[in-house]
Amino acid sequence: MFILILLICIVTCCETQTTSTPDIALCIADRLSAGYGLKNTESVPHITTKRTKRLLHPVNKQLPKRAIVIGASVGMGRELSKLLAADGYNVGMTARRLELLKQTQQEIPTQTYIAQMDASKPEEAIGILNTMINDMGGLDLLVIALTGFYDCDFDARDWKGSLPVLDVDIVGFFALARTGLNFFEDQGYGHLVGFSSIDGIRGVAGSPAYSASKAFCSRYLQAELNKYIQRNIPIFVTDICPGWVNSKNEIDVAQMPEAYWVESLDDATKEIFEAIKNKDEIAYITKRWAKVATLLSTMPTDLYNALSARPGGGF
Ligand SMILES: NC(=O)c1ccc[n+]([C@@H]2O[C@H](COP(=O)([O-])OP(=O)(O)OC[C@H]3O[C@@H](n4cnc5c(N)ncnc54)[C@H](OP(=O)(O)O)[C@@H]3O)[C@@H](O)[C@H]2O)c1
Repeated sequence: MFILILLICIVTCCETQTTSTPDIALCIADRLSAGYGLKNTESVPHITTKRTKRLLHPVNKQLPKRAIVIGASVGMGRELSKLLAADGYNVGMTARRLELLKQTQQEIPTQTYIAQMDASKPEEAIGILNTMINDMGGLDLLVIALTGFYDCDFDARDWKGSLPVLDVDIVGFFALARTGLNFFEDQGYGHLVGFSSIDGIRGVAGSPAYSASKAFCSRYLQAELNKYIQRNIPIFVTDICPGWVNSKNEIDVAQMPEAYWVESLDDATKEIFEAIKNKDEIAYITKRWAKVATLLSTMPTDLYNALSARPGGGF
């Protein structure tokens, strides 16, 4: 407990010290480009960044907003589809289980589109995505909420036991994200939202390939985001990084005394929706996981393994 409190104090201090770093860096860059020396940076007022300007891109408010959620048959993708519809979006939903998509469609009173899609077959999947974008008359928001996690056997020594996350969370994710971004680039604006995980921050012993696949999702989304910021293009990218979410209501927390911070589907999805509306760059779900994320990325290996191997550890 003492170590945990100490670590949280360290993280809080680190955060306080680094909050203004980007502004200082921008001020320095601004001053250098204006021919000033580094000594003069202290009195420079806050400067408007290109990112702020990107928000000013005009969007046609006459048309209904259109969103596609990939991985919408259950869990956070399904719940998010309902929230987006309630917010006025025409929503397209895809997954392998068409029957579940049809059920969700019945629960949404506004215009919806559904299509069966298997992201482990990327050529077919991007064809289905492009057709859906066409059928919907365009796209404003693409959410990729799928995972092959539950189709894997991470204990298998045979490498194929982990193949579903490599196929779905890496290749499928990339193919679908890139296809969506191609559309946004041609259109000149758009918003890509992808799901990573706290498990992607540090190598998780119990599910190495999943952990690595989620690290891929985060780094890829971050790279695309940086590209659009540097080129001043109003395409937004959000990395949704959940902790532990009871996304199928299958976790009975009362039966799991070691379970920590298991979020309800409802609370998690509301925060995700809020992050999408804010066009956040990265959103830890729920917010308190942000501190754990900082700890995970800075903790020494021996301390990490001592904590992670304990009952209730594992992240
Ligand atoms: N729940 C958590 O604690 C947690 C924590 C961190 C990160 N995440 C991440 O958050 C995202 C959503 O999680 P969740 O718990 O809501 O997931 P979930 O309940 O397992 O739902 C996953 C969705 O992906 C779809 N899917 C799976 N394989 C697919 C494939 N090959 N092709 C197309 N669709 C496929 C599933 O539909 P079908 O089976 O019908 O295809 C389902 O709609 C995932 O990326 C997950 O890795 C979850």
